Amino acid sequence: MIYGAILAGGIGSRMGNEKPKQYINIGGKPIILHTIEKFCLCSEFEEVLILCPADWVEYTKGLVKKHIVPNDKVKVIEGGDTRNETIQNAITYIENAGNLDDETIIVTHDAVRPFVTYRIIKDNIEAAQKYGACDTVVPATDTIVESQDNDIISAIPDRSKLYQGQTPQSFNAMKLQQLYRELSDEEKDILTDAAKIFVIKGQPVKLVKGENSNIKITYPYDLTVAESLLKGE
Ligand code: CTP
Repeated sequence: MIYGAILAGGIGSRMGNEKPKQYINIGGKPIILHTIEKFCLCSEFEEVLILCPADWVEYTKGLVKKHIVPNDKVKVIEGGDTRNETIQNAITYIENAGNLDDETIIVTHDAVRPFVTYRIIKDNIEAAQKYGACDTVVPATDTIVESQDNDIISAIPDRSKLYQGQTPQSFNAMKLQQLYRELSDEEKDILTDAAKIFVIKGQPVKLVKGENSNIKITYPYDLTVAESLLKGE
């Protein structure tokens, strides 16, 4: 079975808004609704799970009920303290539903990337089925400069081998759960990224081509970019 998991458990501290950024309106409706709509266009999903902060579960259920038709495949559940814990909550939900087996695929996606396309989601599903894990990326456009001491350049890696990570990141759900459980608390603390769990355990992660328009809304400036991208859609 194939599950979508829209990760909305964060509070958006860098946005500095009074409510989590995924509930800010763009084009007249909350960012999270744009993202849910994109996932609901994909008939491959058994269910689309929305993982949000505990205080926002009822509100999110109300949004889905009012704006998403049909909504029988959409389930709103509580996220975790970290992004990876949020993903684990999704896998636990699938397990409790009796649907976690060695073919279960989970397509995890930032709620604050509302410009994901059907093509990207489809490519994720295929790559996760074939390779066990995949990450959506675009080639790095700026030269990436490394500084070990945050003062002086220590390296300038070859840009032709560098990519910027986006989402979705998609996985064989059982494998992800198993690898996550093998991590030490220290390893968990430094992980921001679920694909990295596979990388540090020496498992392959296939690259899937993203789009420059698949932006993550992080800072207030990104809201302006999002409004103009919506006009072009
Ligand atoms: N996320 C999540 N659970 C968490 C933390 C983050 O599901 N415990 C989600 C966010 O809601 C967001 C996505 O992961 O959709 C990408 O994270 P980021 O942009 O860092 O969001 P926030 O953590 O909300 O933002 P900030 O780091 O500025 O606080």
